[in-house]
Amino acid sequence: MKNVLVINCSPVRNGATAKIVKLVSEQFSSNSIVKAVCIDDYTFGFCKGCRSCHTTARCVQSDDVDLLMREFERADVIVCVSPSYWADVPGQFKAFIDRCTPWCNTHEPHASLKPGKKGYAIAFRTGSGRKECDRIIESIEHFYGHLMIECAGHIGFTGIEFRDAVEKHRKEIEEFCREIQAEL
Ligand SMILES: Cc1cc2nc3c(=O)[nH]c(=O)nc-3n(C[C@H](O)[C@H](O)[C@H](O)COP(=O)(O)O)c2cc1C
Repeated sequence: MKNVLVINCSPVRNGATAKIVKLVSEQFSSNSIVKAVCIDDYTFGFCKGCRSCHTTARCVQSDDVDLLMREFERADVIVCVSPSYWADVPGQFKAFIDRCTPWCNTHEPHASLKPGKKGYAIAFRTGSGRKECDRIIESIEHFYGHLMIECAGHIGFTGIEFRDAVEKHRKEIEEFCREIQAEL
């Protein structure tokens, strides 16, 4: 059984992102151990930019980032689901990415996740242009890359403001999940 971590990158627990997270989780529940989390389940401070982690591979702060990173460590597959907030990932998720600097492979020493993890990105927005989704996917895949998580696939949707609008993309989301499962 593979461990799948599905992350709601939005602070909204019952919005469109949560609905996509639920659809994705349901797709994996029969043959994987699925953990769905919301970035708002975790309380953590902003990165202070002190760069202590560049020499210690540890953050000077101790908070829920450690809990979420434990979920990353347990997972074989990570699916980040992100809405557009001002054309990028929500601030809460960006703050988490900043706090992952101890794991960033651009400095030595750095903390490391177990190798072999696959990362997927689902991005969506209310507006109609697809480019904004690509930008969000790029942010998530940039993050995966520096944590040595393989960027294994992504998908983007437009025209979603509230959770009801997710339904029209159900088939595409299910198909995306089948593609992920085929690679497990
Ligand atoms: C603070 C904020 C900023 C947003 N910025 C954008 C934006 O730049 N472009 C866009 O297309 N949609 C934008 N949206 C719309 C959201 O992407 C959309 O409503 C999404 O469904 C929100 O999902 P959630 O309720 O799960 O957080 C924004 C929404 C919020 C709350």
